[in-house]
Amino acid sequence: MRHFLSILDLKVQEAQDLVKRALEMKTTDYRSDLLAGKVLALIFEKSSTRTRVSFEVGISHLGGKTIFMTPRDCQLGRSEPLQDTARVLSRYVQGLVVRTFEQEKLELLASFSSIPIINALTDLYHPCQVMSDLLTIYERTPDFSQLKIAWIGDGNNMAHSWINAAIYFPFQLNIATPKKYAPDGDILARALSMGAKVYCTDDPKEAVEDVDYVNTDVWASMGQEEEAEIRKKIFAPYQVNKELLSRAKKEVKVMHCLPAHRGEEITEDVLESEMSIVWDQAENRLHMQKAILELLFS
Ligand code: CP
Ligand code: NVA
Repeated sequence: MRHFLSILDLKVQEAQDLVKRALEMKTTDYRSDLLAGKVLALIFEKSSTRTRVSFEVGISHLGGKTIFMTPRDCQLGRSEPLQDTARVLSRYVQGLVVRTFEQEKLELLASFSSIPIINALTDLYHPCQVMSDLLTIYERTPDFSQLKIAWIGDGNNMAHSWINAAIYFPFQLNIATPKKYAPDGDILARALSMGAKVYCTDDPKEAVEDVDYVNTDVWASMGQEEEAEIRKKIFAPYQVNKELLSRAKKEVKVMHCLPAHRGEEITEDVLESEMSIVWDQAENRLHMQKAILELLFS
């Protein structure tokens, strides 16, 4: 029994194999009965479209069933401790897919549960999204060693999972954030010490120079709504627009995990352009969820 709370819960080979397996599942429109007779609970303390639906559909493609829970409709919202919820649900269902705030909450759940826990996004990481973004890159440009990828905007959960991915995949990752919103220093230091090629700057122009892929995300993540107005001012120079992209490779592709705020972190003309691969990214969530489920439940 194993959990998937972070990309670093995988071995290097497993992470690389997951991308290949997810592509195989995509090209064959894969179905199986791996999860037949199994039920997974999805506990979501934050909103979700892609992660929720891709997990529900992916689990059903593998023959399993799901129960969707939010704090509004279960005792978690009335302060029943996670460690109690974990022990109770472990006796009913065979896995938990959890979207919450603190990574420590997931770790607590994992330590009290006897079934696999999957991180469906925390404030610290979004590992399922970045694994599927790697699939979106791999299906276009399979040799990661030749790639330069930029992360522009907030040093948030997505940025942290990209830093972890750079430990396992040999691309160059350039991160541009305002100084105060740089990624977590410990996550970065660990990645650098493990050989990741990550460069951090506060200059978005420098970060996108000659890159193959440009990634961005909202400036205020879920839970930071009250900071949205101040962040809009601070992050304005980090908007992914045509002028910024003119410094990247001519064939540059633009990525966004979605939902996107047009006119803020990304302009409408970029999001809707030939450069944008965001719809493939969204589709690939489904294929990657199936590959992750197969790894954990085989
Ligand atoms: N990208 C992503 O995780 O989207 P949702 O919040 O809709 O799940
Ligand atoms: N950083 C964003 C990602 C949404 C999928 C958030 O946490 O809200």
